[in-house]
Amino acid sequence: MTHALRNVSVGAGAAPLFAAATRGTTEELGVGTLRIPVYRGEFWTAKQRQASSIQEISYRACFKPQLPAYFIARLTGPGDIVYDPFSGRGTTAIEAALHGRCVIANDVNPLSAILTQPRLEVPDLDAIEARLGKIRVRANSGTAPDLSMFFQRDTLREIASLRGYLRRRHASGNEDATDRWIRMVATNRLTGHSKGFFSVYTLPPNQATSAENQIKINRKLRQKPEYRDTRAIILRKSRQLQRNLSTEERARLHAAAANARFLTTAADDTRDIREGSVQLTVTSPPFLDVVQYARDNWLRCWFNGLDAADIAAHITMSRTIEEWEARMGRVFAELYRITKRGGWVAFEVGEVRKGRIRLEEHVIPLGTAAGFACEAVLINQQRFTKTANIWGVNNNELGTNTNRIVVFRKIR
Ligand SMILES: C[S@@+](CC[C@H](N)C(=O)[O-])C[C@H]1O[C@@H](n2cnc3c(N)ncnc32)[C@H](O)[C@@H]1O
Repeated sequence: MTHALRNVSVGAGAAPLFAAATRGTTEELGVGTLRIPVYRGEFWTAKQRQASSIQEISYRACFKPQLPAYFIARLTGPGDIVYDPFSGRGTTAIEAALHGRCVIANDVNPLSAILTQPRLEVPDLDAIEARLGKIRVRANSGTAPDLSMFFQRDTLREIASLRGYLRRRHASGNEDATDRWIRMVATNRLTGHSKGFFSVYTLPPNQATSAENQIKINRKLRQKPEYRDTRAIILRKSRQLQRNLSTEERARLHAAAANARFLTTAADDTRDIREGSVQLTVTSPPFLDVVQYARDNWLRCWFNGLDAADIAAHITMSRTIEEWEARMGRVFAELYRITKRGGWVAFEVGEVRKGRIRLEEHVIPLGTAAGFACEAVLINQQRFTKTANIWGVNNNELGTNTNRIVVFRKIR
């Protein structure tokens, strides 16, 4: 298999869709007998529409909302189905809803739907405040496992009381959109590295550390958990999430909520999705064994009564590129089945193993073997200034953020 890049002028096919951002010239990637145009540029920049505040939920390896927005705006119309088989925090799903599209989101990790669905049926801040005020804090709310290395005693009582309340509401069938919103925000605020979280200083919220490591962090930083007002934190984060949401966007999210579908199956076995129904898939798969989703999510799982070990058993962790290809080959076969004729797949891959493995070159043969035409590779390069503070010296360096997206179309 040959992998060659050379400069050519923009050809036919999907080129006009992507060429505008690259001033008319592009490169070409040779994969076997295929010649795929490669567009390199800043496709989504600060100049473009700012992302909605409702997207501001942290999740390991999430992409920016501007990425799905770029494809949704160009490749779909009102009412089309937009899908993400590896939905994560639901970036594609929320963006699709904001654009007035229909939503299907899938992820083997049930935390994905817990973090996404409530942001489609956004409750009023007054309703959230009133509901929080009604949740009784129980004095005796002993927890297993021991979480005292993360949370001060009274904070832990509040968290355990909230957990118990949400569990009872769910079990009784009385859970409503306000409960689900509170669950989503609390899950997001459990642990983190500032006073905006329930915990003492720890890793960022999407990478919960183990209890043993937290004890070490506390010892090293000579810290112990202080009281956090969990209700005030939930309300503050709710306000932040809703801060730039217009009335129209709120209405679009609600409209999408009515028939949005959230699945928790393996991405290569989504038999509940009808054949030929999806106009656009925008997704980013798990990359080899780079991110340890289960280990990072154990506290979020505890709060939501989920079994982290069971979830871990279903998450794709490929040690070798061959294993990853076999798994993704099956995902592409499934995507081909559910995609409409004329529909699209935008498949984002990262640079893994320090750029030694260029996943796009592995993805192109998988998509074409499933029946798709590979229309383009988009390489979005975003330049930003990063400030490195080393021994008191400020260096303003230019950094880059790169996304590589392989774009397929179902032609036949
Ligand atoms: C790179 S993340 C996606 C992040 C997402 N684009 C976002 O913006 O949040 C990959 C996701 O794939 C999920 N996942 C891993 N293996 C899976 C499988 N076999 N089927 C479905 N989902 C899977 C993980 O739980 C994780 O949420």
